[in-house]
Amino acid sequence: MTRPLAGALAGVAALAVLAALLFLIDSAAAYPWIKAVHVIAVISWMAGMLYLPRLFVYHVGAERGSVQSETFKVMERRLLRAIINPAMIATWAAGLWLAWHGFAFQGGWLHAKIAAVLALSGVHGYLAGAVRRFAEDRNEKPARHWRIVNEIPTLLMIAIVVLVVVKPF
Ligand code: HEM
Repeated sequence: MTRPLAGALAGVAALAVLAALLFLIDSAAAYPWIKAVHVIAVISWMAGMLYLPRLFVYHVGAERGSVQSETFKVMERRLLRAIINPAMIATWAAGLWLAWHGFAFQGGWLHAKIAAVLALSGVHGYLAGAVRRFAEDRNEKPARHWRIVNEIPTLLMIAIVVLVVVKPF
């Protein structure tokens, strides 16, 4: 099995275990606490998702094989593994719990929000692939590409927060 596939499977397994554990909790008192965990996880996930493409912009400018380039590789790998991946799993697990216990998965805003979060998770997968390509010195994309990619999580985040706070439909 390839390493990215094994990593993705480990992530899905961790999400399933966390979601199963969370679904055992069923109390109104737990709701604001799980929401707090959700918002903390969201902040961590977004911090990483906004910073990682910015690191790529600087990494493109570093000469291959240079000390600077190798340092960027370490920063990118640690950011992905220690922050972005676990934060995404915690966001999903707590978000699904809230959606079930608070709203029984009903509501146009919730369906639209989940669709936007799926898109955000797709961007996450794309960035994880890019970390691997940078680590193997196989990135072909220019800094401009990563500057544009940097805006996608921002736009999705704005849509997601408006959907969940305003609940326009
Ligand atoms: C599939 C993943 C997600 C699901 C199912 C989900 C679902 C939910 C639910 C049901 C709530 C409670 C809303 C309420 O009590 O009124 C909530 C709160 C919240 N979510 Fe998510 N969420 C997910 C991912 C995200 C992401 C990625 C973000 C931000 C980028 C986000 C931002 C927020 C915020 C800021 C709140 C607090 C809203 C408030 O208290 O008014 N969520 N989420």
